[in-house]
Amino acid sequence: KRVILVGPPGCGKGTQSPILKDEYCLCHLATGDMLRAAVAAKTPLGLRAKEAMDKGELVSDDLVVGIIDEAMKKPSCQKGFILDGFPRTVIQAEKLDAMLEKQGTKVDKVLNFEIADSILEERITGRWIHPASGRSYHTKFAPPKVPGKDDVTGEPLIQRKDDNAEVLKSRLEAFHKQTKPVIDYYTSKGITVNLHAEKSPKDVTSEIMKAVS
Ligand code: AP5
Ligand code: ZN
Repeated sequence: KRVILVGPPGCGKGTQSPILKDEYCLCHLATGDMLRAAVAAKTPLGLRAKEAMDKGELVSDDLVVGIIDEAMKKPSCQKGFILDGFPRTVIQAEKLDAMLEKQGTKVDKVLNFEIADSILEERITGRWIHPASGRSYHTKFAPPKVPGKDDVTGEPLIQRKDDNAEVLKSRLEAFHKQTKPVIDYYTSKGITVNLHAEKSPKDVTSEIMKAVS
């Protein structure tokens, strides 16, 4: 299976993708997680991406397409993949199509996490993450077993630098202007499935399982 998860900041992509990954043993690529790791490690890529990320703007197409192109060469990504947060512009979508066409494959399903903007601020400002794994928690909706600690490793949880109301506004603007057209692009190919992302995490998971089965 070759699946794309698309939706605004806080819609639940990062919460749902590990479940899908475990169910189907797919390679899971989240450009946001990969970029944050590069920023933390101060690699040349991270240094180039940091400013846009801190402002809630998109990183250049060339940088992210480069990351995905490299990551997709892994043997584990040949059988199938879940892309979380990519493609986010029509140019990225076209580049991905071209990349897959060379391998004689294509995207099977695009899961569109539909949700009202008004719900997202509470989700974003209450989120805590385990940076090493990308696991997310929420003070109200998904609290960790021990406050402030990752359930699996016991390591401390942190808040993302861009998870505040101010930067969220730019992230939402980028979503509406640059990423909505990506959804239209895939809808015109007939492979988009719309999800009710405002429902509980469990309900969203069952909608996803139905959509990809
Ligand atoms: P990225 O990391 O992709 O951030 P995002 O798209 O803004 O999405 P989030 O990670 O904020 O939300 P999510 O949908 O994963 O939500 P989650 O499941 O954690 O990108 C960050 C930045 O990197 C971008 O701004 C850009 O600069 C750059 N970038 C990345 N990819 C790029 C690309 N392709 N091109 C250019 N630039 C790129 O859930 C949120 C919270 O809600 C959690 O606390 C969770 O516990 C809770 N929650 C989840 N589901 C539910 C539910 N159903 N009910 C209640 N609470 C829930
Ligand atoms: Zn995410």
